[in-house]
Amino acid sequence: MEFNQTKETGVTEIYTQDKLYIRGQWVAPIDGEQNESIDPSTGKVWARVAFAGVRDIDSAVSAAQEALAGPWSRWSPAQRAALLRRIGALFEAHAERLAELESRDNGMLLRDALANIRVQAQYYYYFAGMADKLEGRTIPIEDGMLAYTTRVPVGVVGAIVPWNVPLLTMTWKLAPALAAGCTVVVKTAEQTPVSAYEFARLLETCDVPPGVINIVSGIGPTVGARLVAHPGVSKISFTGEHRTAQEIMRTGAVNLKRYSFECGGKSPHIIFDDADLAHAINAATHSSFAVCGQSCALGSRLLVQRSVYTQVAEELARRAGRIRVGMPKDAAAQMGPQAHAEQLSKTLRYIDIAKGEGATLLAGGARISEGDLGAGYFVAPTVFANVDNKMRVAREEIFGPVVSVIPFDDEEEAIAIANDTDYGLTAGLWSQNIGRAHRVASRIQAGTVWINTYRYIRWAIPYGGFKMSGLGRENGMEAVDAYLQTRSTVVNLTGNYPDMYAN
Ligand code: NAI
Ligand code: MG
Repeated sequence: MEFNQTKETGVTEIYTQDKLYIRGQWVAPIDGEQNESIDPSTGKVWARVAFAGVRDIDSAVSAAQEALAGPWSRWSPAQRAALLRRIGALFEAHAERLAELESRDNGMLLRDALANIRVQAQYYYYFAGMADKLEGRTIPIEDGMLAYTTRVPVGVVGAIVPWNVPLLTMTWKLAPALAAGCTVVVKTAEQTPVSAYEFARLLETCDVPPGVINIVSGIGPTVGARLVAHPGVSKISFTGEHRTAQEIMRTGAVNLKRYSFECGGKSPHIIFDDADLAHAINAATHSSFAVCGQSCALGSRLLVQRSVYTQVAEELARRAGRIRVGMPKDAAAQMGPQAHAEQLSKTLRYIDIAKGEGATLLAGGARISEGDLGAGYFVAPTVFANVDNKMRVAREEIFGPVVSVIPFDDEEEAIAIANDTDYGLTAGLWSQNIGRAHRVASRIQAGTVWINTYRYIRWAIPYGGFKMSGLGRENGMEAVDAYLQTRSTVVNLTGNYPDMYAN
């Protein structure tokens, strides 16, 4: 596998990885194929990598099952913690290379990639700290009986990850799964397979027992679906679209799989007229256009109190118009391209839908087709005003740089609009009135509510959705619970068991 660079142009040759990472080895696909990956800033092929087929998935699951029964099961919690720390350290030592690959494959700004790769070390260190604290209970039940619980790994985990932040979404699953003692088959998204393969290459220095971590890419509806259908997989941890999660639930019913789902949102970001408007507008701009709109946590419905509505909407549109859209490697760029062609068309389709529904276009509203950016998947930061919450543009997740600005009159109406959605992942609100801030936060149906900030996501804070936004939580102490099951052991201390049929 080669990845050559020159000083002037960065990556010049095609990145290639023609093998899958299974059982601690690089193996050629049995029934998979070689696939191309596109650089979304140029629209050109920049990598060729192996995709698994169905039989490769079966082989990866066997590897994970054997590892689960093998020496790994006798590793002490402290040894697992040490492994997690070694893996975390990779993200610090190799951040630049991983970031360059991820930025190339996914189109996120190089500096954003660098920041989110570096921070991943903290997730492994955090769950390393939990690996030796997975304690059970002793249960006082009656004299002569001892009851206690132990917490054991749920089994082989299938981690199905998306393309919007490829390594971070993998890390959110891998770190707690390993802390719990599970073994894992990671299936990366077909659009962004490269950085996880590079991570697998780095793993070779970490003394991971063969089969504990297996990494493959492959087509979702066939190869991802095989991972879900496989009776040897006990749990699926998935990030992606809720319709895929529904499909996974149906397929995984075969052996009553356990699930963790993170399925996106249409998050309300509420600005009251008593907010510190300057900072609220900073946050509203960032929460609309960060990661080129391709984040589940974006404040894609900006709810603004009517007395400050025009002021906020116009300032947001002015800021959107000034955002420097550019190549991911360009240090001056502030927003990159959409990650792949299908997402580009989806975003453009929703822009047309919004126009057709009668929303007022205040900024952007089109693909950038001139100059160097014309060949890539770039969309101008887009602001729609006078959006009614019943419009599709306010109800369906777009996953592009498109924000809908919705007016409201009072607290009650803000809460009603905020909750009038199928989703419930995140929400934000801006108010200087501390009573109002907590009162409103307590009534919003979302897994995370930010007050006077937005999109503050950390390893130690539980993250996940209400309603159609998901199932279970990632991050925080409870994340590890999703990879454990409880065994109750009951001991008779008396040595006696009466004959129930004595006359
Ligand atoms: P998706 O849910 O189809 O893909 C996510 C992952 O699931 C990929 O690894 C894919 O290969 C896999 N997958 C797809 N179908 C599968 C199946 N039947 N069985 C097992 N695995 C399967 O999402 P997609 O199509 O890439 O994006 C569509 C929309 O979903 C986006 O526009 C966005 O609105 C939303 N989305 C939300 C994400 C989030 O962070 N919550 C991440 C990605 C997408
Ligand atoms: Mg899909």
